[in-house]
Parts: sequence; C-alpha cells; structure tokens
Amino acid sequence: MHYLKAEFHCHVKLFSRRPFRPGQLRRRLEWARRTGLDVLAVTEHIDVSDFWEIYHCLESWCGHASGMFEWRGLIVLAGAEVSVAEGGDIIMIGSPAALKELEKRLGRLRPGRFPAFQTLMDASEDLGFLRTGAHPCRSSKELWKMGPLLKRLDALEVNATELSLAGHVLRKSAELNRPVLAGSDAHHWLQMGRVYNLLPFEGRFTLVELKQAVAQHRVTWQRNGVRSLLGKMIFPGWFSGFAGRPTP
Ligand SMILES: [Fe+2]
Repeated sequence: MHYLKAEFHCHVKLFSRRPFRPGQLRRRLEWARRTGLDVLAVTEHIDVSDFWEIYHCLESWCGHASGMFEWRGLIVLAGAEVSVAEGGDIIMIGSPAALKELEKRLGRLRPGRFPAFQTLMDASEDLGFLRTGAHPCRSSKELWKMGPLLKRLDALEVNATELSLAGHVLRKSAELNRPVLAGSDAHHWLQMGRVYNLLPFEGRFTLVELKQAVAQHRVTWQRNGVRSLLGKMIFPGWFSGFAGRPTP
C-alpha cells in the first residue's frame, strides 16, 4: 500500500476575468511536481470565457494514463468549479469528455445563468464525476442551506481559506454521512498544496478507485506547514528529497 498526495482544488488563473495564458498552467504543473504532489486536479471556474483553452493545452502537452492526463509523472485530473444559482460552488472532477457532456446538457454557463443545485446533480449524476461541495462555510456561498440534498455529493471540502472552520465542516459532514476532502483553492501557484489529500492506492490510479476510496472514508487530509512551504521555496533541490511522500 502506498499513498498519493493530491491537490483537488486549483485554479489556473490568478484573476478569473484576465485571459488564460499557457505559462500559468505550466508553472502550476511544474510547482505541483516540485512540492511532491502526485495528483493535481485542475479546477478552473467553468464559466470563464476561455475555459476550454486550458484543456486544449493539456491535450497537447500531456500523455494519457488510464484515460487521465499525465505530465512528467504527475497525474492531472480534469475538473471545474461550477457555481449554482442558490449561491455555492461545486468541484467536479472527471474527464474532459464528461465536462463537455455536462456543458452540452446545461448549456454554456455564465454569471446569471447557473443551474440550481439539484439541476446540477441531476445533469451530472451518470457522468462519473467526483463531486465535492467547495468551501461550504463561505458566507456568500454557504452550502448548508441545501440541507439533506448535500447527500448527493461525494464529499464536502475543508478549504484552506476556512481552516478555522474545519471542525464545523467535520461535524456537519458526519451528520450528513459525507466524507471530507481538502482543497487549497489555489489561485496563485504558491498556494498549491497548502492542504492536500492522501489517497491510499495499490496498483494503477483510476477515477473509479478514487471515488471508491472517498466513499469508504479512506482518504485523509493534511495541512502543509509554513516551515515546510518555506523550505521548498528557499531550498527546493535540498527539500525535494523527502517532500515527495508524506507520512500517512
Ligand atoms: Fe475555487
């Protein structure tokens, strides 16, 4: 048994309204490797105008392993952050084909044209996504208002920007019998991996196995220490020797 270190909430843009630049994506992929991540889910907002350019880049740069992108040993998962009409964001992790199909079913999403939570759940039910309720305590995007409907999610997120509320997320998740995953919500590349997940795996990594591990509450999360992050920035080569595999 070994553990994969995974970041499940990472944006490519610093500012959503600015144009996407391939260098931003390349820097994040490179930083993910340097900080010892094994798995990176790219989860830009699906409503940004140049959303599909991200996947054009990944298609041209990456190889494919088990139907997933692979970049110099890093497993790159296709994802998106999808807003819902009630206020709230859902992280959808799957494949480019599943994201395309979701867009086909819901139409092109943009502010003022977001689906209701239940509509999003219905439209994505059979597409194989790992669906996580993002930053559920954020005031303008609080998810608890959805009540028992949250049971349709695969997990709820402890977001790096809400760590002081992690205990509350854990309690609410226990009430709903939903697993908890962590996400950095990184907009800047230096924010990647500030929290991360540890996935127990034997053999090949697949999305189906990932979903099973999450459903069985076998995925745990950790917070990356400030000292550890500083070490990687100041002594990247020296640090990489033991930053690759965290203690589970
Ligand atoms: Fe986000």
